[in-house]
Amino acid sequence: METLIFLFVLVYNKCRQFGLLTILRGCDYMFQEALDKISYGLYIVTSRDSEKLNGQIVDALMQTAAIPPAVSISINKNNLTHELIMKSKVFGVTVLSEETPMIFIGRFGFKSGRDIDKFEGINYEIGKTGTPLVLEYAVSVFEAEVVDYVDSFTHTIFVGKIVDTKVVSDKRPMTYLYYREVVKGKSPKNAPTYKGK
Ligand SMILES: Cc1cc2nc3c(=O)[nH]c(=O)nc-3n(C[C@H](O)[C@H](O)[C@H](O)COP(=O)(O)O)c2cc1C
Repeated sequence: METLIFLFVLVYNKCRQFGLLTILRGCDYMFQEALDKISYGLYIVTSRDSEKLNGQIVDALMQTAAIPPAVSISINKNNLTHELIMKSKVFGVTVLSEETPMIFIGRFGFKSGRDIDKFEGINYEIGKTGTPLVLEYAVSVFEAEVVDYVDSFTHTIFVGKIVDTKVVSDKRPMTYLYYREVVKGKSPKNAPTYKGK
């Protein structure tokens, strides 16, 4: 038995030394250093199912067309927000300002709406599509109807056609780089930008 454990540890260490484990894992972490150079913003994506309002932090959002205006978002399949967007086929977006505190990001980005009511005590309005739009720390808000979605392994990419927009303040939008370097924030496992720390 001891010999077996010794052999296992030896093989494991050799694999680590030559990066074989990394290769077996599909080069995940080898690729990450280059992918970390991608720029993102920081947003709250919201949706609803009859009485249940929910939202989550998202960095994986981009504008994908101008005429008509459209955006895409990448949402983890385990998230409550994913379930609500799949059902309602609508979502709202709040572009967060640099002033957004970590405690607020923590509520929407590190907790699930399955365990708490994220909208309790939060300043929000109901948009044209019925989706809630978070107004706290908002630079702008907009809402979209889902016109298509694509599988992306752990995540679903939803393509949304914009149906309404509003500029809320003239504050500076938070970038993901600012969040990492100034706010000193991290990303949980469900974020596409998760780094394991
Ligand atoms: C900085 C940051 C960025 C994130 N980006 C994403 C993202 O782009 N897509 C995603 O699905 N989750 C992302 N997350 C994770 C979700 O916000 C988190 O899993 C949330 O708790 C899901 O909540 P829900 O279950 O109530 O929907 C991010 C979290 C943080 C803190």
